[in-house]
Amino acid sequence: MRILVTGGCGFIGSNFVRHVLASHPGDQVVNLDLLTYAGNPANLADVEAGYPERYRFVHGDVCDPAVVAPLVAEADLVAHFAAESHVDRSIEDAQAFVRTNVLGTQCLLHAAKQAWGGDASRRLLYVSTDEVYGALRLADGRRFREDWPLDPRSPYSASKAAGDQLARAYHHTFGLPVVVTRCSNNYGPYQFPEKLIPLMILNALAGRELPVYGDGLYVRDWLHVQDHCRATDLVLRQGRPGEVYNIGGNSELANLELVGRLIALVAARTGQDEAALRGLIRHVKDRPGHDRRYAIDAGKLERELGFTPQMDLARGLEMTVDWYLDNQDWCRQVTSGQYRQYYQRMY
Ligand code: NAD
Ligand code: DAU
Repeated sequence: MRILVTGGCGFIGSNFVRHVLASHPGDQVVNLDLLTYAGNPANLADVEAGYPERYRFVHGDVCDPAVVAPLVAEADLVAHFAAESHVDRSIEDAQAFVRTNVLGTQCLLHAAKQAWGGDASRRLLYVSTDEVYGALRLADGRRFREDWPLDPRSPYSASKAAGDQLARAYHHTFGLPVVVTRCSNNYGPYQFPEKLIPLMILNALAGRELPVYGDGLYVRDWLHVQDHCRATDLVLRQGRPGEVYNIGGNSELANLELVGRLIALVAARTGQDEAALRGLIRHVKDRPGHDRRYAIDAGKLERELGFTPQMDLARGLEMTVDWYLDNQDWCRQVTSGQYRQYYQRMY
């Protein structure tokens, strides 16, 4: 298979590229990435060196039809990860989110429609998010299913929902073979340290304050990125065109509880005093419009494609803390140089 991955230099995209090359020896991967602050060639340095025949990087914009059209035309499968992904940034300025997440997705869909016609052997996967469903109350026993009405509540989730709906519209209107996945919060190696888990690990390590938004009782469902990559790969190859598949980790946790676990892991690994690290927790001003809880019912993916997550949360967090402690050079690199201005603007 010839696979076009967009956003392959980001957190999930880089893990996905590595997963595909390692688990499908016959596949070729082209990675289209604009290298925004969140995309870093260092995330795929081992892949560049390890698979020179099967991996190609293209520096370009998903919003640029001249770049996108030929790449889509020569691909059997497209996995569309490229996006602006951070909720807090979308609250600060939503423009790039609309551009990349909405217009970039439409650009890709248009290219596929033009190049593929009715070829049912091709497939385009839009990587959506559980945030498109809106928020659940803490006491609500229900979880999001695929038929849950969409109710995005941040500029980020609204832009992702627009891309999600456009992808499905191109299936319904033009018969384009599109599949959509809606996944919960990922964690693991190569996540940019603006997101909760790597931010807390690096701040704890440096003895900096640990900013917990509001009361810290916001709940997210955590999924290890390797499990997400396995699920995405499965849906890309075997999902039914026009269908949506939820992907979840069955691991709901309140933010404060999660931060406590990370502190304990960092203290155990570095010998820092755990109580002193707990003293760094600061309840800071809440995120505007903060969604209280996300919870995913991923039963459809299990029934249809036999997928269940394999990584236990405790083990996954331990491995993630170890990875960040063992990859300090990467951490310094992604928060310095051309990346620094973005990082420091927020923190
Ligand atoms: P990320 O921010 O780490 O990476 C995004 C990548 O897209 C970067 O490499 C960036 O350079 C690239 N990119 C941005 N704009 C581009 C453009 N115009 N053209 C080409 N490339 C561009 O994001 P992530 O956390 O890896 O998320 C990947 C996808 O998964 C996103 O679509 C996101 O909405 C979705 N998702 C993420 C999570 C999560 O927990 N991180 C959960 C569910 C869904
Ligand atoms: O649910 C899937 C989504 O998960 C993806 O679609 C997004 O791309 C991804 O960024 C993530 O969104 P969240 O907003 O849930 O992730 P974030 O790491 O920013 O925040 C997780 C929780 O922690 C959230 O309730 C906000 C809170 N938080 C976050 C940061 C950065 C804090 O309390 N303090 C912080 O400093």
